[in-house]
Amino acid sequence: MTVSFDELAELIRSRRSSMFVDNTREVPTGIVEQLCELAQWAPNHKRTWPWRFALFTGAGRDRLGAAFVADMVDRDFGDQGKRAKTVTKYSRTPAVLVIGAAADDNPSRHDENRDAVAAGIQNLLLGATTLGLATYWGTAPLIDSPRVLALCGFATDVRIINVMYLGWSRDEPETPVRPPLDLHLIDA
Ligand SMILES: Cc1cc2nc3c(=O)[nH]c(=O)nc-3n(C[C@H](O)[C@H](O)[C@H](O)COP(=O)(O)O)c2cc1C
Repeated sequence: MTVSFDELAELIRSRRSSMFVDNTREVPTGIVEQLCELAQWAPNHKRTWPWRFALFTGAGRDRLGAAFVADMVDRDFGDQGKRAKTVTKYSRTPAVLVIGAAADDNPSRHDENRDAVAAGIQNLLLGATTLGLATYWGTAPLIDSPRVLALCGFATDVRIINVMYLGWSRDEPETPVRPPLDLHLIDA
């Protein structure tokens, strides 16, 4: 191993959810590809390879917001304020990465796929942190938005786990204090 425990611990602790980005500086697609590739090294049960990615930049970000809002209207979900915010909010960072989890007929594997995607997302977040990229994990307004799934090129039963904001960091947010460790020891 080339990374010490202390170095890894420092990296993990320094990762922050942040939207303080330089919105004039693009995030090269090649870098996002490398980060997504890191995500795929997370463990996944039965090798279902559940990670799905779609990158939105430029005017694509507005199409993402419009697609969510059209489905929010169809489903009668969210008030006027929430819909208005959703139209524009994906332009807050130069890149937005939608990350989905493949579905599975087996309910337990279906949940495990989601867990594997969450584990992969942490890989991605840590990789981004090493590069000076700010990241922010956003929950989708609708995790099964048909229009967004189609726009992403995902299967219709994929669950949207994360709408991740990405951009070059220009400031550090405050670090939320972590609670004391909740570890129970049972040794007899
Ligand atoms: C599953 C998940 C969903 C999240 N969804 C949102 C969200 O919709 N909006 C938001 O502001 N933050 C969201 N977050 C980010 C948390 O607010 C953030 O991780 C938390 O405040 C701790 O800050 P830190 O990541 O800098 O340690 C989400 C995080 C996770 C793990």
